[in-house]
Amino acid sequence: MPFQLGAIQLPNNIFYAPLAGCSDYPFRQMSANYHPGLIYCEMVKMDALVRFDQGTFHILDYARRMHPIGGQICGSKPEIAGQAAKIIEDLGFDVVDLNCGCPVDKVTKDGSGSGMMKNPALIGEVLEKMVAAVKIPVTVKIRAGWDENLINAPLITQIAEQAGAKAICIHGRTRQQGYRGAANWDWIKACKEVAKSIKIIGNGDIFDALAAEKMFEHTGCDAILVSRGTLGQPWIVEDIIRKLQGEEPRSRTLEDCRQALLEHFNYTINYQQTRRAVVDMRRVGCWYLKKSAGTRAFREQISRAESIEQVQDLILNFPLGEMNENEINDHSEGEISC
Ligand SMILES: Cc1cc2nc3c(=O)[nH]c(=O)nc-3n(C[C@H](O)[C@H](O)[C@H](O)COP(=O)(O)O)c2cc1C
Repeated sequence: MPFQLGAIQLPNNIFYAPLAGCSDYPFRQMSANYHPGLIYCEMVKMDALVRFDQGTFHILDYARRMHPIGGQICGSKPEIAGQAAKIIEDLGFDVVDLNCGCPVDKVTKDGSGSGMMKNPALIGEVLEKMVAAVKIPVTVKIRAGWDENLINAPLITQIAEQAGAKAICIHGRTRQQGYRGAANWDWIKACKEVAKSIKIIGNGDIFDALAAEKMFEHTGCDAILVSRGTLGQPWIVEDIIRKLQGEEPRSRTLEDCRQALLEHFNYTINYQQTRRAVVDMRRVGCWYLKKSAGTRAFREQISRAESIEQVQDLILNFPLGEMNENEINDHSEGEISC
């Protein structure tokens, strides 16, 4: 079903998350093949944007077929927030998002990312500047709170709504949790209960279509944001839509995963310098083959590969095999590194 976000209509309500170091141009090329409602770019810093840092602009490269696409900015300075949001709009993005969830120390130490969770009024102030500066919808991505003692996502939902944000994405973990432990969807539900007009986007632990369905049922959220669940399964939006329509997700063989990895590799070769493409495959390769036995050896071999041809041979000759019980445990999502 089309999804209304402010003045724009998105094709559906299954969105793909910003993932720093992962949701790069080739990743978004793969994602776009399956038509999520919205694809977010990796976060960029407001400060870097307003000083026109070229590397930062490079992160925001996109192709026309990646629309609808969102740009995410990270920073805590209201005085540059409007200018940064306007740059995202002028680059042609459909949505601009404020990052209030990044847990990394070097980001939170100046009060940015999840550091903003300690200062809800500042979130409101920054959002107001962004909303005033652009015509595209402004969204914000938060965590449940800073820690168990400071769960303030519902309060921030109300503040964001008043500031004019059109949607708020809640990652159901605290900053203290990082990416560990289960996301608590009750906190997302609590945000939905206080929201009047702002759309609620549920996030955390959506690794398959069944989890997506449960997220909608449990929280009553308006849309969902799939994050690590997109890694190695760019088709997850298709699976989710089928599930929500009462159909079984299309079954995909390990050989299909290998072919998808080759496709992702081709996008990477065409976008990155050779050396960088080879290095990128160290993480991307494992995402796609994580459902097969023997990926530990593959990971070691690919991390020693020096050329495009070597990587290609490793992928083509990888002996795909069903996993035994121990190996399934070995492939827990926590192992995914980006
Ligand atoms: C490697 C990595 C990079 C991330 N980068 C971003 C980012 O740039 N911006 C952001 O808002 N969230 C970022 N996140 C958080 C995810 O978007 C998401 O909120 C989190 O992974 C929880 O969802 P999940 O349990 O479905 O993975 C990142 C997470 C990971 C694991």
